[in-house]
Amino acid sequence: MTERQAEIGTAFVAGRPLEDRQPPEIDTSLPHSARVYDYWLGGKDHFPADRALGEVFEQAIPTMRQMAKENRVFLGRAVRHLVREAGIRQFLDIGTGIPTGGNTHEVAQAEAPESRVVYIDNDPIVLAHARALLVGDERGRTAYIHADLRDPAAILSHPALTGTLDLTQPVALMLVAVLMLVADEDEPHARVAELLDALPSGSHIVVTHPTADFDPETVAGVVAAADQGKLTLVPRSREQVAAFLGDWELLEPGVVPVMAWRPDGEPPADPEAAWYWAGVARKR
Ligand SMILES: C[S@@+](CC[C@H](N)C(=O)[O-])C[C@H]1O[C@@H](n2cnc3c(N)ncnc32)[C@H](O)[C@@H]1O
Repeated sequence: MTERQAEIGTAFVAGRPLEDRQPPEIDTSLPHSARVYDYWLGGKDHFPADRALGEVFEQAIPTMRQMAKENRVFLGRAVRHLVREAGIRQFLDIGTGIPTGGNTHEVAQAEAPESRVVYIDNDPIVLAHARALLVGDERGRTAYIHADLRDPAAILSHPALTGTLDLTQPVALMLVAVLMLVADEDEPHARVAELLDALPSGSHIVVTHPTADFDPETVAGVVAAADQGKLTLVPRSREQVAAFLGDWELLEPGVVPVMAWRPDGEPPADPEAAWYWAGVARKR
């Protein structure tokens, strides 16, 4: 880590250096999305309440783990595309999750070491792992901000963001498997529009979002289980997901099942096997 990276990376994590802050409060009594997702991905950062909800999902959707993995594999494909084909070198990854294999900065910096990444999450357990996200290629830079997608102004004006990303140059806004955790009453489309407005021409948005479009009954069942655990989960239709991309130019193949978005190698036999919509768009 360079001196500059250390300064940016640590000085603004939750407003205090990582070394100085108290361990974040982690509530283990209720399931948290980052930890349930970590459970499905085979990670180690989950508690009984997370596993219980994760298992309810798996009973209803036996391929749940595979679906989560497909979402994660898509993240890598999209970042590689943005670096290779679109020349993107700056990423704003909101809803980072607990670090696992193929984090945005690792994929981007493997392609272009100078890539810069700002990570945002609002879960203290992700904050506790922020150090793992701050170790990037010396030629690039990464920062982590403990912040909320529902407050774009706080994100955009945060010194760790403005010190890491140049908002006069194209940025890829990554909203991968996070918007379903924002309730309609929090106006996620308006919040995303605020973020899009702040980015210059040539910027990209990457969205994945779980949907009930392929099996409404089963998804209604797991949404009810999440609700019981006080976890907001809002599956959205293809049209609602496409609306997050605003009037930006939609890249081929459009808003499609996540496995069908520019697959590496052979097209999947059954792209609708993973119930996420995915799309990437570019600001004109
Ligand atoms: C399912 S994980 C997705 C992780 C990663 N983007 C991926 O697709 O592999 C969702 C993450 O979004 C975070 N999150 C949920 N609501 C959020 C909000 N309002 N602001 C910021 N992060 C949020 C959760 O804490 C969790 O870490």
